[in-house]
Amino acid sequence: MLIRNAHIVNAFDEKQADILIRGRRIAKIGKNLPTEDMDVSAVIDASGMLVFPGGIDPHVHMHLPTAAGFSSDDFVSGSRAALMGGTTTMIDFVTPRRGMSLTEALRLRIDEAAGCLIDHSFHVSPVEWTPDTALQIRQCIAAGFPSFKLYMAYKDAIGIDDGVMEKVMQTLADAGGMATAHCETGDEVDRLRDSLFASGHPEPSSHPLSRPPHAESDAVAKAIAIAEKTASPLYIVHVSSAGSIEHIRKAKEKGLPVMAEVCPHHLLLDESSYKASFEDAAPFVMSPPLRSEPHRKALWDALQTGIIDATGTDHCPFLMSQKEHGRADFRKIANGAGGVEHRLSLLYTFGVRAGIISLQQFVEVCSSGAAKIFGLYPQKGLIAEGSDADLVIWDPNAEETISVKTHHQNSDMNIYEGIRVYGKPVFVIAGGKTAVSHGCLNEGLRGELLRRPLIQ
Ligand code: URP
Ligand code: ZN
Repeated sequence: MLIRNAHIVNAFDEKQADILIRGRRIAKIGKNLPTEDMDVSAVIDASGMLVFPGGIDPHVHMHLPTAAGFSSDDFVSGSRAALMGGTTTMIDFVTPRRGMSLTEALRLRIDEAAGCLIDHSFHVSPVEWTPDTALQIRQCIAAGFPSFKLYMAYKDAIGIDDGVMEKVMQTLADAGGMATAHCETGDEVDRLRDSLFASGHPEPSSHPLSRPPHAESDAVAKAIAIAEKTASPLYIVHVSSAGSIEHIRKAKEKGLPVMAEVCPHHLLLDESSYKASFEDAAPFVMSPPLRSEPHRKALWDALQTGIIDATGTDHCPFLMSQKEHGRADFRKIANGAGGVEHRLSLLYTFGVRAGIISLQQFVEVCSSGAAKIFGLYPQKGLIAEGSDADLVIWDPNAEETISVKTHHQNSDMNIYEGIRVYGKPVFVIAGGKTAVSHGCLNEGLRGELLRRPLIQ
């Protein structure tokens, strides 16, 4: 396949050239590459388009088991939605039940994702400390899964306490792995949830009150302190508050290997969404919750100045019937929202077009940043000879209104409903194949399982 007249955007430069793809890889980049012997159907003219590396979403939850049932996208429907929005790689999670080994849970999850349309990998979640946990962590790292997700919230199910966190991080530091952390002070959040419910506030507006900004920033401070003590690299997922940004900024200033992610919903939506009827508010119940204006501003500033390293969606959609589980008790509302399809167009519209981040920063936070952090670079996150041919050919002038009527995630709600976005993938090339052309998904796609090297 030959892409002619591409305006190539990498995270560090931009240039005009043709891109020749052979098999799964980029074979050559140069001006006026010859087309002899090429089938004309394999030539794409990208004049007027931007061409950047396929999006990498390092935070998705397909078919996640919860008390309200599984999140409503499986690996096929979720990866279809991802592709339609220009994301060609995703990293999901292995979340065992307590009592199950990490390696067995990893094996089962790999099988579950076998039909995934795009390249994918996993972060593994230790949910307890047993005599075998350190060995199992080492086995996961050796198998090519060196990143681990630690939950400081959800103490009744998968959350761990500070002591376990320290043991896990020490093991990771010793074995060449890295920690990612969901930072919320779990015990405090559980207390607040119970007391709000007990005092007669079962409605969704109790959700943000039970997870205040300081519950996140205190947990961020704790996670950073443990990372510093153990010398483990730490990636903090879905940062939502100004206080957390401040802790992350100071950690980076000290030279600690602390990295951070922001989600589009925390950048773009706010807590006013919870002051509505159950039907209108429940779709926005996710953790951490949406915040107020000053927090949103702090997140945008952090994205602009590089304190935030990557964006992820925390894609975890549900059906309204699952949100209904919590009609009489906000603690039981299915927790999460979808967004894997919309990350690039939202960041392009409200980041690049709004003049907050440059095109190259956009590529960094939507693709290259995650590739570097999670051991996929330069195979992914880069347009260069030898890199994977995962490319987005982007029409910067296309317009669209996000809607449940046209989205591809398997959900009857969309938290971005009615938002006008600019920029759209005209073609998405994944693993050297045209996966999407002019809004149509091609048949027969199959992603690869990505095994990754040690992080340190
Ligand atoms: O609300 C959320 N984020 N649900 C998914 C699980 C998690 O906390 O990442
Ligand atoms: Zn998540």
